[in-house]
Amino acid sequence: MGKTNNDLELYLTQHTTPEDQVLTELTRFTYLTTYNPRMLSGRQQGLFLQMLCSMLKPKRVLEIGTFTGYSAICIARGIMPHGILDTIEINDELEESILKFLRQAEVNQSVNLHIGNALEIIPTLDSTYDLAFIDGDKREYAEYYKKVFHKVSVGGFIIADNVLWDGKVINFDPNDIHTNAINTFNQMVQNDERVQNVILPMRDGLMLIQKVKD
Ligand SMILES: C[S@@+](CC[C@H](N)C(=O)[O-])C[C@H]1O[C@@H](n2cnc3c(N)ncnc32)[C@H](O)[C@@H]1O
Repeated sequence: MGKTNNDLELYLTQHTTPEDQVLTELTRFTYLTTYNPRMLSGRQQGLFLQMLCSMLKPKRVLEIGTFTGYSAICIARGIMPHGILDTIEINDELEESILKFLRQAEVNQSVNLHIGNALEIIPTLDSTYDLAFIDGDKREYAEYYKKVFHKVSVGGFIIADNVLWDGKVINFDPNDIHTNAINTFNQMVQNDERVQNVILPMRDGLMLIQKVKD
């Protein structure tokens, strides 16, 4: 019998450094208590973000969409001890658990959690970012990009998650709002002469964007 995508997924997991106890507990908590636990970054993407941050050594990182804090912990681990992460989450019911897991992971000193709508909060942040990770509501990606762009330094990066949207981006359906929003975003980035960009087919697709001019 032929090998399936699940076999490949298992193989990837078996050849990626395992999570520590905090991330395992956070994942378990997320699967037990949230409606859409698959939203968390998970082992491969989490470690990828962590390693990328170790390479880039950003001083200031912005994340849109904290959820239960998986990617925030990974990013914070990659930027410590010199970097700061500002992470924004609209769902205030998650605040207590996010703060608990940040403390458990001992990264709370390096992370500022902002509870509220990223579209309203971003304009109030007066930092310049070396890296921004867009992982909020897919329908708002284009708006996040517009708001974040001027806050990212020239040479800095923007990473957007889920840009392949389960492969649906190549099957046009006029009624699929999320897919159309992702496609609009991907095309907007592709047409933006101020950046260079590449899609990595990791998990649900990561768009790596480097700002080359203002
Ligand atoms: C895909 S999850 C984020 C996953 C997280 N980055 C991780 O890897 O574990 C998306 C999150 O964005 C949040 N969100 C949606 N719209 C938002 C907005 N306008 N501002 C801030 N957060 C938002 C949702 O509540 C949800 O928790």
